[in-house]
Amino acid sequence: MTKREVHFPDNFLWGTATSAYQIEGGDTNTDWWRYEQSAGTHAVERCGDACDSWHRYEEDLDLLVRFGLNSFRLSVEWARIEPEHGIFSAEALEHYRAVLEACRTRSLVPVVTLHHFTLPLWVADLGGFENPDIATWMGDYARVVGESFGDLIGIACTINEPNIVALMGYLMELFPPQVSSWERFANVNTTMRACHAAMRDALRATPGTYPVGLPLSMQEYEAQPGGEELVESLRAEMEDKYLAVVGDDDYVGVQCYTKLVFGPEGLILRPEGEFTEMGYLFWPQCVEYTIRRAASLTDIPIIMTENGIGTDDDGQRIRYLRGALDGLRNVVADGIDLRGYFQWSLLDNFEWTYGYRPKFGIVSVDRTTFARTPKPSAQWYGDAVRAFPGRPG
Ligand code: BGC
Repeated sequence: MTKREVHFPDNFLWGTATSAYQIEGGDTNTDWWRYEQSAGTHAVERCGDACDSWHRYEEDLDLLVRFGLNSFRLSVEWARIEPEHGIFSAEALEHYRAVLEACRTRSLVPVVTLHHFTLPLWVADLGGFENPDIATWMGDYARVVGESFGDLIGIACTINEPNIVALMGYLMELFPPQVSSWERFANVNTTMRACHAAMRDALRATPGTYPVGLPLSMQEYEAQPGGEELVESLRAEMEDKYLAVVGDDDYVGVQCYTKLVFGPEGLILRPEGEFTEMGYLFWPQCVEYTIRRAASLTDIPIIMTENGIGTDDDGQRIRYLRGALDGLRNVVADGIDLRGYFQWSLLDNFEWTYGYRPKFGIVSVDRTTFARTPKPSAQWYGDAVRAFPGRPG
């Protein structure tokens, strides 16, 4: 398919990233909601009302403006937009139009993800990512999104971390549908690439000149002696096969959180170092590493669509952010075509199987009143963005 005319926002994008399920609340018509209610799953807690952002989105956007950021990454919930196969909800489409208009009114560039981990129940019940028709369904859904509010989209992300959905759902048994099979994991990755292409082409066939791309989860991998083979096979499946096909996209989204160390027995859970609340190694250097790796394997612009730290210690978050921004500075100085950075996340939100314990937000959310309280890291991030040397944009 020929590329349409594409317009990137004029300025470097500085923002925060979120997802519908993790902040909206009440996304009941999804596989994740059902997973949390079922016995024998890994979910420690239910999502419930999340951060009630379905109703409080204007408050969220005002915070971004207050911090001096110029962009917001959010996702729209397929299960709300297409609650039954082929039936599209005018109410949900109007709601998301209003959210994007509220971004535009505040001069925030909306970066819109069409799929962030959750499936409508009707899709899950028909086999989810193992049904050969899913690429067609996702393409149809993307076309409706493009037709309904493509004129307001700043950047589009098709599927958030398709490789993580495949890994956690089909190899690690940690996300629905809780499967453990290398073959099914690899097949779902192949299907994901077809879904992405179908969505991208559907979006490009509707009005708009916004860039379309795929946000991929990347890692800094380290192999200790004996761990090399595992790292090679995992990295091929998780990264290289995706990076080999994104050349037709307008940009590639890079997302990273840490470094993974592998030995002969597999992942080393506690290598030497400092740890975060998620049990991840504290490793902001992964920002520079993953951007450089993506740049070495592709020749399209890069956006860091997610990066952050889950921690109760906001001082540790500031140290992490400082390290992340150092990495950005280095890659920009080397001429890598980086167009934006999105900190994960604006709010303390629903962290999938871990529930509400991990705190990724630069803003805390009272679990009873939903009152938002910015943390020192929010101010720090805004100040750092303003002072970014040779600030792109
Ligand atoms: C996901 C988010 C998640 C974050 C922190 C990313 O992989 O896209 O949904 O909350 O990591 O674990």
